Amino acid sequence: MRAGGAKFITFEGIDGAGKSSQIEGLVRYLAGRGCEVVQTREPGGTPLGERLRELVLHEAMDLETEALLMFAARREHLAQRILPALAAGKWVVCDRFSDATYAYQVGGRGLAEEKFRTLEAWVHPGFQPDRTFLFDLPAKVAASRVARATDRPDRFEREQAEFFERVRAAYLGRADADPGRFCVIAADRSRETIASAIEADAATWFR
Ligand code: TYD
Repeated sequence: MRAGGAKFITFEGIDGAGKSSQIEGLVRYLAGRGCEVVQTREPGGTPLGERLRELVLHEAMDLETEALLMFAARREHLAQRILPALAAGKWVVCDRFSDATYAYQVGGRGLAEEKFRTLEAWVHPGFQPDRTFLFDLPAKVAASRVARATDRPDRFEREQAEFFERVRAAYLGRADADPGRFCVIAADRSRETIASAIEADAATWFR
């Protein structure tokens, strides 16, 4: 249980799954309930984290360097923003967290799972989001959304559908392993339907 009943909520899914507008919607919903909310993202969320984000999204690098930089940015984010906010009773809504490293670096790129577990246990021992909305949809559908929305694709967005199918499978595996934390959202439905599903879930936090 966190200070004042606040929660750490994350949004996950392959690129093009449509998380962004739903994050805004949940933040508005929580604010309407009188919660103080910190909205943030990974990689990023701090000045140093945003600089690391620019590097991991646009510079070619070794796979293990990529995983280490994701966790370095995360450590800074936890220390500077996430943990202080939760300690002060604020809610934290974050676009991606360690599930993304599991899905992209382990599932997509093939990083050894054991290395991921070591980094996770180092950077946030015993700490996980309270609720994770996983936006799930076929990689081909997501790719056509990304192609429409982006004119300067980053290193991840340039990957092929097979990469994203591996990422998707890794996400679903992680959700299966922790059904109490994950809420899997079928993301090929309308924006309104998805928003209602998220609000219905969020309403249970206030009962
Ligand atoms: P995102 O912010 O969702 O991208 P956009 O701003 O284009 O919507 O995520 C940035 C990218 O970083 C996304 O392709 C997933 C990738 N990523 C990882 O590979 N590992 C990680 O640990 C995180 C947090 C993100």
